[in-house]
Amino acid sequence: MPNGLTILDVRDRIREAQSVTVLTGAGISADSGVPTFRGTEGLWKNFRPEELASPEAFARDPKLVWEWYNWRRELLATKRPNAAHEALAQLEKQLPDFWVITQNVDGLHTMAGTQRLSEIHGNIWKIRCTQCHHVRHNHDVPVEFPPTCVDCGGLLRPHIVWFGEPLAPEDLECSYAALHRCDILVIIGTSGAVYPAASFAPVAKDHGAFVVELNVEATPISSMVDVSFQGRAKELVPLLL
Ligand code: OAD
Repeated sequence: MPNGLTILDVRDRIREAQSVTVLTGAGISADSGVPTFRGTEGLWKNFRPEELASPEAFARDPKLVWEWYNWRRELLATKRPNAAHEALAQLEKQLPDFWVITQNVDGLHTMAGTQRLSEIHGNIWKIRCTQCHHVRHNHDVPVEFPPTCVDCGGLLRPHIVWFGEPLAPEDLECSYAALHRCDILVIIGTSGAVYPAASFAPVAKDHGAFVVELNVEATPISSMVDVSFQGRAKELVPLLL
């Protein structure tokens, strides 16, 4: 209980807040059985990101990259939102201004009912044409290779922000607006290893927000926040309601 604050004190602050922004990472979906990226069981222990999640990898071997995303689609197709995703969807209904920024591509926030959402790393259930850039929803498991665009015949790729690629300007704009106006920023289940999300805590603090972290362990973000609680997302987040 750092700063002498309990999670119920944070809940009271949220009740009084005009504007709350939430940043989520893989840890919130870990309680739904979705593997995280880092840590002992993380995906990047067994796979090299630059061989699977980069524009160079796709240019070199699109089939291999699609096999990796088909494997992940197959895994995610069986997963459902947990109590943490559901609690955030409830909070959205109770607060005048609420925004979720997620680094997750699994679509579980939307499945739980969250509507005010920026998926800053994209969505695994969307595909994009490499030629005409048209984005479409696609829930095929697996996606047959080579997937081609019905409009222009171009090769389709996952609508994911890969290593070395910039975030979509509209997502950045929405995210920074939400970070600048919020009274409280709640950061859930991210290692703080990937930018720009890793810098969102100081951005919100500089604009006067009270910043809270929920994670099973201390992270580089912990030293930048006002209060950090250790525990599982599915247990801590419902307490914020
Ligand atoms: P990471 O895998 O780097 O970190 C997951 C975080 O969740 C860690 O800090 C864990 O301690 C925490 N965690 C694990 N289980 C938890 C639980 N049940 N409750 C609360 N916290 C828990 O995932 P991200 O920070 O999301 O990008 O990674 C950021 C980006 O790196 C991802 O979006 C992905 C990856 O490469 C792309 O694929 C573009």
